[in-house]
Amino acid sequence: MPLFEWTQEYSVNVRELDEQHKKLVDMINKLDESMKSGNHGDAIKVILDELLDYTAYHFETEERLLVQYGYPRLENHTKEHDTLSWRVLDMRTRYESGEGVEAKEILDFLTGWLKNHILLSDKQYGVFLNSKGLR
Ligand SMILES: [Fe+2]
Repeated sequence: MPLFEWTQEYSVNVRELDEQHKKLVDMINKLDESMKSGNHGDAIKVILDELLDYTAYHFETEERLLVQYGYPRLENHTKEHDTLSWRVLDMRTRYESGEGVEAKEILDFLTGWLKNHILLSDKQYGVFLNSKGLR
């Protein structure tokens, strides 16, 4: 079973952002599968780096749209992204320096965070962007 299954309940009803969320979910599952099949070391690091880079790119896309459409809760939303980014960056640094942080720990943390964030925060901007005509 995949670690994260994207279902319609996760839709923010904006196509570009749903597509990016789906890609994140795919990358999460790919990393999880890779770990389960016994890969480690460099193979894991490459996929993890891709996932974290894509997460940063995705946040930029969301924030750009929220600025463009004048989302009233922009500051709050950006803060959530920043907090996650800092925490993950810190975990990644400790993982890379071998300080007892496992790739799986980063993956599980990011997955749990993303599920909550989409359901509680992203869906709120979805309603707002839809009201501005964006789908
Ligand atoms: Fe977001």
